[in-house]
Amino acid sequence: MPIDAKKLRTAIESINDLPTLPSVVTQIMGRLGNPSTNAADIGRLIEQDQALSGKVLRLVNSAYYGFPKQIKSVRHAVVILGFNKIRTSIMTASVFETFKKETAGGLDIKRFWQHSLGAALASKATAEAFGAVQLAEDAFIGGLLHDIGKIVMDQFQPAIFGPIVKFAAERKLLITEVEAKVMSGFNHAAVGSWLIEKWRLPNEVVRMVAGHHAPHRYSEERELVAFVHIGDILARALGVGSGGDNCMPAFDPAVTASFRLDRDFLDRCVERVILEIGRAGEFFSLLSS
Ligand SMILES: [Fe+2]
Ligand SMILES: [Fe+2]
Repeated sequence: MPIDAKKLRTAIESINDLPTLPSVVTQIMGRLGNPSTNAADIGRLIEQDQALSGKVLRLVNSAYYGFPKQIKSVRHAVVILGFNKIRTSIMTASVFETFKKETAGGLDIKRFWQHSLGAALASKATAEAFGAVQLAEDAFIGGLLHDIGKIVMDQFQPAIFGPIVKFAAERKLLITEVEAKVMSGFNHAAVGSWLIEKWRLPNEVVRMVAGHHAPHRYSEERELVAFVHIGDILARALGVGSGGDNCMPAFDPAVTASFRLDRDFLDRCVERVILEIGRAGEFFSLLSS
């Protein structure tokens, strides 16, 4: 009998040790949209968490941002980079730290985060290639978190998710295709969105995670959801890490039509993604520290 979404959601939400982001991260995510927040406030909040500050400084001083002089304090980094870019670094450092232990159902956590980071960089590059520069950092966060439901399933429902991953590998299927057979009307994208809601992250993030395999179902945040859908596929095409299955999904026809995805455009996206990945070595090396 297919697994019921409501029952599984209740089971997952009642798990006491469901991972939480450091409270400073949730506060920062909430404050970044607030125009009255100043750089010193944000810097002070981040500095309360020393380990996080150290990682953020490592990222902001990396080749990815390419500043000629060393940035010595988080407060200075907020002024120079702006809130949106700082948010990207903080979220990256925090989720790697929160979900670094091996999961129970056999998902390779390091390769998983490599895929997620690849998708983050690709979602951002896609937004930029579309000229939607103002959405680029949000697209990064959506890409980074898009498959987080797989970790939740793997860690807390391994008896369900382990066989799904195994079956997908044996039959060369997508995890979503197997999920569609055994789960009643939901999949890891929905599970991920439940966690994001529980974390009280902004609605855009909920929708990017929920919609990354079926963007045609989302009329709100249409562009962001499409960028993450495309970013996931580009990260797969470039073989960056692994989200647990190694098949290539097709682009959602609604996205292909409304965003006019043609060969030329995709080639431009891929070029940008390769450049981004080349510059993001320090982001990837955070996974090993
Ligand atoms: Fe996915
Ligand atoms: Fe993915």
